[in-house]
Amino acid sequence: MNKTDVVREVLKDRDMAPGLQGAAYAPANIALVKYWGKSNAALNIPMTDSISVSLGSLGAHTTIRVASQNHDLVFLDGSELPAESTFYQRVKNYLNLFRSSQSHSFEVKTTSSVPVAAGLASSASGFAALVKALDQLFAWGLSGRELSILARLGSGSACRSVFEGFVWWKRGQENNGLDSFAERMDVHWPSFRIGLLELSAQKKPIGSTEAMQRTIETSRLYSAWPHQVSTDLPRMIDGLTHRDIETVGQVAEHNALSMHATMLAAWPPVLYWLPGSVEALRRVWEARQDGLCVYATMDAGPNLKLVFEKSEQAKIVALFPNLNIVDPFDLLS
Ligand code: PMV
Repeated sequence: MNKTDVVREVLKDRDMAPGLQGAAYAPANIALVKYWGKSNAALNIPMTDSISVSLGSLGAHTTIRVASQNHDLVFLDGSELPAESTFYQRVKNYLNLFRSSQSHSFEVKTTSSVPVAAGLASSASGFAALVKALDQLFAWGLSGRELSILARLGSGSACRSVFEGFVWWKRGQENNGLDSFAERMDVHWPSFRIGLLELSAQKKPIGSTEAMQRTIETSRLYSAWPHQVSTDLPRMIDGLTHRDIETVGQVAEHNALSMHATMLAAWPPVLYWLPGSVEALRRVWEARQDGLCVYATMDAGPNLKLVFEKSEQAKIVALFPNLNIVDPFDLLS
């Protein structure tokens, strides 16, 4: 099966005649148990499950309509993207999956409420918002599960951004990925906080897809990764269920550092960290030694995301004055 077959399977005989406009919002997300490695690169089927927290009102607002021009128009934060840009090409290729025989072109406008400098990938919230907007444009009425499968085809982690709160992406067993989708977890934790610590807004040296592939192919440590996830996953679920910040923070930090260890053992090595990342991580460890309950996680970039509870906020801001604090439940409380 390829992506087109999966889309056909999900949409079945739904109407392919577009309405006037679709508009939707999807939050960015940070993984607490990471997704690192695909078992099927063409369909973005992951090697393991992963768990994330969605970032409430930080995300992507997207509108889509049929364009009068004979090519797609893609706007990001008010600027039209050149057709040669990577993001334009990714959006266009994704839209190709949804064009009917009349082969219309689309105008897609996305504005992001994630601070540009926060160093968060825009692809997860972008593709989740896009698929929700397509669902509206065509009035398909897809379920969260179906939207999640379709979002996954744009970017793996986008399947988690379809939902708010804590989200569990189950990798599934099927070769076609029709059972690989995310679901919202039944955990409400209004005092949970994520702090975004920006260290560099520069473009990353290597994209996550290529870095994952290289890690799988060349890093001997990668064989340990599925084992790491299989121990971290039940501990994380237990920690979230009991709203136990120490367990959640410890597992998240250990999981993230283990993921980075697999990359460092790849060849050529993959190292997203900058000197400032190490310095900030040491500051987190020192803060913990001084009794603060704060943990860090890192993705395919040099920035840190801190994990803590609201009660520790003032002390943490004193240590990290530029921290951008996110309340993942701000839209839900
Ligand atoms: O969905 P992608 O291809 O952007 O990969 C995301 C990879 C990490 O951010 C490093 C981990 C994760 O689970 O989000």
